[in-house]
Amino acid sequence: MTIPPDILAVDDTVEVEIEKLIAGGDGLARSQGVPIFVPLSAPGDRLRLRIIERRPSYARAEIVEILQSGPERREAPCEHFANCGGCSLQHIEDEAQTRWKVSAARETLERLGSVAHDVPDRVVRGDSWHYRLRTQLRLEGEPGRASVGYFARASHKLVSVRTCAVLAEPLEEFVVGLAERLDHRVPRRLDAALGDDGAITCGPVLPGLPKGTVSRRVGDFRYEYDARTFFQAHAGLLGEFVEAVVGREEGEVAYDLYAGVGLFALPLARRYRQVVAVEGDSNASRYLRNNAQKAGLANMATIGSAVESWIVQLPEGVDRVVVDPPRQGLSLHVRGALKRLRPKRLTYASCHPAALARDLKALARRFTLESLVYLDLFPQTGHIEIVAQLRSLE
Ligand SMILES: C[S@@+](CC[C@H](N)C(=O)[O-])C[C@H]1O[C@@H](n2cnc3c(N)ncnc32)[C@H](O)[C@@H]1O
Repeated sequence: MTIPPDILAVDDTVEVEIEKLIAGGDGLARSQGVPIFVPLSAPGDRLRLRIIERRPSYARAEIVEILQSGPERREAPCEHFANCGGCSLQHIEDEAQTRWKVSAARETLERLGSVAHDVPDRVVRGDSWHYRLRTQLRLEGEPGRASVGYFARASHKLVSVRTCAVLAEPLEEFVVGLAERLDHRVPRRLDAALGDDGAITCGPVLPGLPKGTVSRRVGDFRYEYDARTFFQAHAGLLGEFVEAVVGREEGEVAYDLYAGVGLFALPLARRYRQVVAVEGDSNASRYLRNNAQKAGLANMATIGSAVESWIVQLPEGVDRVVVDPPRQGLSLHVRGALKRLRPKRLTYASCHPAALARDLKALARRFTLESLVYLDLFPQTGHIEIVAQLRSLE
């Protein structure tokens, strides 16, 4: 719907009440029929806003003054929250963050994905602080005097941090002491990951910094990875995430597409006679192969390939396909192949509700959606993970 542009123009100020959060974590208010998206707001806040962007059907605004705080607003616990772009929801109580994110995701699935409101679902949450196993740091300055931190919100300006309480404690300690250790070169970006014995690894490789492989046990399996290889970030929810995806079903053949280092493929190989895992990143697929080998899983084949080019090899009517694509979801080509080849059961893990909604809608004529699990893998941010279990209609 297009709303005349003279209603709420850029720089206008307006008083509103925030109704709810939308997918991504911004608050939603309305004024004169215009939906207004407001970062850093909380449901129930009464705010004076300034319009900073006006599109035909909505506006964006920044908070000028909090007239009255919503019931779940709190003082952000982290001293860096005002500027740092790493977190976006610290100003809302932990439990309420999950509740509002789940309700926004449900609404997105219903509105964009035509998902019925009575599909059975459940919500999983874990620790809200000191949970992250990986981080992507930004740096600048001279060796011995570097600034270490994250980009500011909506900017490439560095916010130098003295603490980061979403990181698992050993990783936070490492980040806090990092500047002193950089006495040769200061890269602009440094990735760091934590193993379950407190070991840390970094990429790129730099003198004086830990490097190489770390590992973490989840359920019956040990997974090796490094700082530049994808591994799920929430230390305390890995087991529940695997269980939500893999479940209890057993069968002949399962495919794990976008497999990473094998978080789902290894446990699938205990439940299916044959498992094929496809991963496009060469480093991740090397770890995937090694992790399967070290687990003694002779019934697992690993394929280092983009799913888009490999998918023509997917046979028709297989027992199970698991997909866990990057944020943008499935390509038209992969969706088309899944519709045509109709695996009996399809599991879709997504960290982007709108992409999942689009894909579920496209798959709806061939698959029935049996259940959804919402996992808060990203506390203090607007992100949420969703696992959808689908079954072929024939
Ligand atoms: C969201 S991660 C999921 C990984 C794994 N399922 C897990 O939970 O650890 C997506 C994975 O897909 C891989 N990937 C991205 N685009 C791909 C593509 N077009 N084809 C195959 N793999 C791809 C990435 O390297 C990454 O390992």
